[in-house]
Amino acid sequence: MTNALNRRGFLAAGAASAGALAAGSAKAANPFEPKEWGQFLGAGVDDEPYGTPSEYEAHVIRRNVPWLTADSVSSINFTPLADLEGFITPNGLHFERHHGGRAIVDPAEHRLMIHGLVDKPLVFSLDDLKRLPSISRFYFIECAANGGMEWRGAQLNGCQFTHGMVSCVQYTGVKLSTLMEMVGAKPNGKWVLAEGADAAGMNRSIPMEKIMDDCMIAWAQNGEALRPGQGYPMRLVVPGFEGNMWVKWIRRLEIGDMPWFAREETSKYTDLLEDGRARMFTWVQDCNSVITRPSPEKPWLDRKGFHMISGLAWSGRGSVKGVDISLDGGNNWIPADLEGPVMPKCLTRFNLPFDWQGQEMLIQSRAYDDTGYVQPTFAQNRAVRGVNSIYHNNSVHTWHIKPDGRVENVQLV
Ligand code: CO
Repeated sequence: MTNALNRRGFLAAGAASAGALAAGSAKAANPFEPKEWGQFLGAGVDDEPYGTPSEYEAHVIRRNVPWLTADSVSSINFTPLADLEGFITPNGLHFERHHGGRAIVDPAEHRLMIHGLVDKPLVFSLDDLKRLPSISRFYFIECAANGGMEWRGAQLNGCQFTHGMVSCVQYTGVKLSTLMEMVGAKPNGKWVLAEGADAAGMNRSIPMEKIMDDCMIAWAQNGEALRPGQGYPMRLVVPGFEGNMWVKWIRRLEIGDMPWFAREETSKYTDLLEDGRARMFTWVQDCNSVITRPSPEKPWLDRKGFHMISGLAWSGRGSVKGVDISLDGGNNWIPADLEGPVMPKCLTRFNLPFDWQGQEMLIQSRAYDDTGYVQPTFAQNRAVRGVNSIYHNNSVHTWHIKPDGRVENVQLV
């Protein structure tokens, strides 16, 4: 009963769709008439020293949900996933979560101190770090609360709001293992307290094992300096772990033999269960996915025929191994194409060509990673975790496609 297309079918359906477009536009004004922008000289190259998007893309912006937090200072905004292509998030659309507002830090005055259980405490300026061997790596970052408003039921009609607390960029910086070698971290130094220079003094305890594995101090993303909202001049990168641990404006790393049990560890970032107990130290962002097209804000189904179902999948434990798509609320599953490159702890784009003939559908994506972990349903997550938590909701998500092509956020029970 599926309308998924093989390659040959997709080409035929695509040609039919293009023909319909030509026939439709013949009735409208001649699209080849001279336009204003073709009759006058445009601005010169000095007009815009730092480029900005076209004015016709002004709707592609980060948005917040005002009722979610008490004010917009300690708050979050969301990446407009439905409007993005590929797997890279442009720097200006990267979601932001601050605990004391966006700090404006002068790099000349900023220092990173590494101390505690070390042979030789050191203080680094930005220039000191940039002299060290650096690497560039693609990673996603996801807020632990991504999807958190959906735990009790479908809340927000748009994938910007259901899944937009995730972004993916290329970070450039120095491996923390290099810095730990320089300070001579002692063998009993099992934990690292990371602290930011913002008004919140945001801090988290991170296991040394993770620090030595793949953590970085980054000063650039997508080829340019970090933006202030992403921790300029330097931030911690903790691949695959929840975003709150990626301390921005990082100024201090203290090595100790046990976690600090900062307020955040013991109360804020725990997952409250049905029986009143709470899961602690839930750091890894498990395998998750979302269909970004069609989605409520970008229905896309403006005509019958060929359409591409497209979305993003990710796993904090490794690489996305595959994504299956259901058009009927999870009864039947069709493997999607992974667009690649497929990289560990990085967003992965998936696509499925299909032929839409106006039928009502419940579309879902279900990702699995290279550890064998399969993205669970809401029912499976709630059976184990209840509905009290706001964190770590990676449930299979459903979009309801209406016969008129509109798309609505729904949950199946
Ligand atoms: Co957690």
